[in-house]
Amino acid sequence: MGRGVGWGMNLLLYGAPGSGKGTQANMLRARFGIPHIATGDMLRAEIQAGTELGRKAQPILAAGQYVSDDIMIGIIRNRLRRPDCEPGFIIDGFPRTVPQANALDTLMVELRKRFDCVIYLKVEVDELLRRLSGRLVCPQCQRTFPPGTRACTADGSELAQREDDKPEAVRPRIEIYLEKTVPVLDHYRASGLVSEIDGRGTIEEISSQVLVAVNGRSSSSPRSGEVARSAGGTGTAGGAGKKTA
Ligand code: AP5
Ligand code: MG
Repeated sequence: MGRGVGWGMNLLLYGAPGSGKGTQANMLRARFGIPHIATGDMLRAEIQAGTELGRKAQPILAAGQYVSDDIMIGIIRNRLRRPDCEPGFIIDGFPRTVPQANALDTLMVELRKRFDCVIYLKVEVDELLRRLSGRLVCPQCQRTFPPGTRACTADGSELAQREDDKPEAVRPRIEIYLEKTVPVLDHYRASGLVSEIDGRGTIEEISSQVLVAVNGRSSSSPRSGEVARSAGGTGTAGGAGKKTA
């Protein structure tokens, strides 16, 4: 049967800070009309709104550290239960730790959903540093743009640098990713759902590869309950190398 078999298309974008998760998620959202669930964007919205969670999260994000698993799992539980997720969703920025990955497995079983594809955007550390130091963000809609962009192409707002793209936060973000988030990839490799995309290339070239991976996997992936039990991944070979993240 075709994509989703009535279960929608559920995608997970995995990669280091600056690997292009948000960029590719925007493309997928426009293409498939399903929500982009970005935990970093959700936290920044809380900070901007001055909520209690936002006040707690602000110094953590600014330092390049992770918000606690309990808080993040609660956020994702609430978000995936919303009706707009019924036709499918694109998760970006979660899970970032093995406990978060285990909680997401449980939640997917509860929701009777499964992932069609986990896209791993693999990019060298030098390139990550280059991209993060030059990135510009729209403070209104949170879309990201490469250096030199004058204004948001969606709403015309003046672009700004993200607080955690300042040099003092970028290194800690990559270090915590290597320590806590790289093991999450192994968690998904065991499911056979991981498609590894070489992040070298233009945004358009990467988008084409992402679409090929999504279309190739969306009709044949196992249900989420099978994720933890299955073994022998079919994703492209190669773990996180020394200089890639
Ligand atoms: P989050 O907002 O998720 O940040 P991140 O994971 O560090 O990733 P980024 O958003 O920086 O990068 P991206 O991969 O989206 O790249 P982008 O497409 O923008 O999280 C922020 C913080 O929130 C965390 O540090 C943590 O504190 C907290 N948090 C969030 N989730 C959490 C969780 N689950 N648990 C605990 N804490 C959590 O691209 C980057 C730049 O490169 C852009 O300028 C773009 O235009 C450019 N670019 C993209 N692709 C290409 C290409 N192919 N060639 C050239 N340039 C490119
Ligand atoms: Mg992002």
